[in-house]
Amino acid sequence: MNIEDIKTVLIVGSGTMGQQIGFQCAVSGFDVIMYDIAEEMLATAAGRLEKLAKNYKAGGRLTGETAAAARGRITMTTDPRKAGANADFVSESVPEDPKLKAKVFAQFNEICPAHAIFTTNTSSLIPSMIAAQTGRPERFAAFHFHDVRVTRIVDIMPHPGTSPEVTALIEAFALKIGQIPIMLKKENFGYVFNAMIMELFKSAQALAANGVASVEDIDRAWMGVMHTPTGPFGIMDSIGIDTVWKVTDYWAKIVKDPQQTKNAAFMKPYVDQGFLGEKTGRGFYAHPHPAYAAPDFVTGVPGGK
Ligand SMILES: NC(=O)c1ccc[n+]([C@@H]2O[C@H](COP(=O)([O-])OP(=O)(O)OC[C@H]3O[C@@H](n4cnc5c(N)ncnc54)[C@H](O)[C@@H]3O)[C@@H](O)[C@H]2O)c1
Repeated sequence: MNIEDIKTVLIVGSGTMGQQIGFQCAVSGFDVIMYDIAEEMLATAAGRLEKLAKNYKAGGRLTGETAAAARGRITMTTDPRKAGANADFVSESVPEDPKLKAKVFAQFNEICPAHAIFTTNTSSLIPSMIAAQTGRPERFAAFHFHDVRVTRIVDIMPHPGTSPEVTALIEAFALKIGQIPIMLKKENFGYVFNAMIMELFKSAQALAANGVASVEDIDRAWMGVMHTPTGPFGIMDSIGIDTVWKVTDYWAKIVKDPQQTKNAAFMKPYVDQGFLGEKTGRGFYAHPHPAYAAPDFVTGVPGGK
């Protein structure tokens, strides 16, 4: 199989990530079929695709005409047979549950052509956990996106049974859809960027949870030295404190680390009160104009000099 043989992309799960990945594939000239279990999910996705098109146009990434053409290449269906019959490349973005992902791949293994490549966009699992259940382990790997609106970095993570030819095809596909592939040489929970950022979050949470410094001062230290527009708590606000808490709590239980347990407990009241970050207008900071975005946040000097 050559990269030119990949023409039709099946997106399984039309939520936040399925919409973004599907749109990026369509923008890059692929025919995209978006599959979900319920019509109302697809209706919501259709609305969000319009927003994505606007976002791309506003960022100068697309003109009105090319956005309309991209949208025209996306078909939506709740019929798995229709969805999978002609797929050459599958990108799965159903909820983060290994049993569900395994079931979905087993279902599409029966439907999709034998040559089709299967990829998962999982955030926290590794592909070997479900490779056997896909029915085509040698044609399966993780292909993980971040927020497609703001970054082009993607992770490509094969499992020991993935065929090298398939890994190379996924890399070629990533380049064809305008992404920057980070090639993992072995499986790693959290891939590359997420593995690093989780360590930063862990340190920042421990500093706050142990009363060493305030949330603002921790961010100020990071921003002031690294010259970044956001610190770790600002980033957690943009991801969603509920999501960060879930991951922290999950790993605290698995590794039985008292500090991580303390970190999760530090975040829990924010989650319980619905202070989830940007999406709810309040998290560690008040949004949409968080204190860290003020020009004098780091220096304390009006104007920021
Ligand atoms: N949200 C993020 O920032 C992000 C980033 C990278 C990776 N991920 C990963 O991507 C995956 C999806 O996350 P999301 O945020 O898009 O979730 P989401 O909840 O927004 O969307 C999931 C979609 O899957 C659909 N679905 C459920 N069961 C299905 C089935 N059996 N067949 C087909 N569709 C089904 C749901 O109806 C929903 O539309 C997860 O594995 C997540 O860890 C998320």
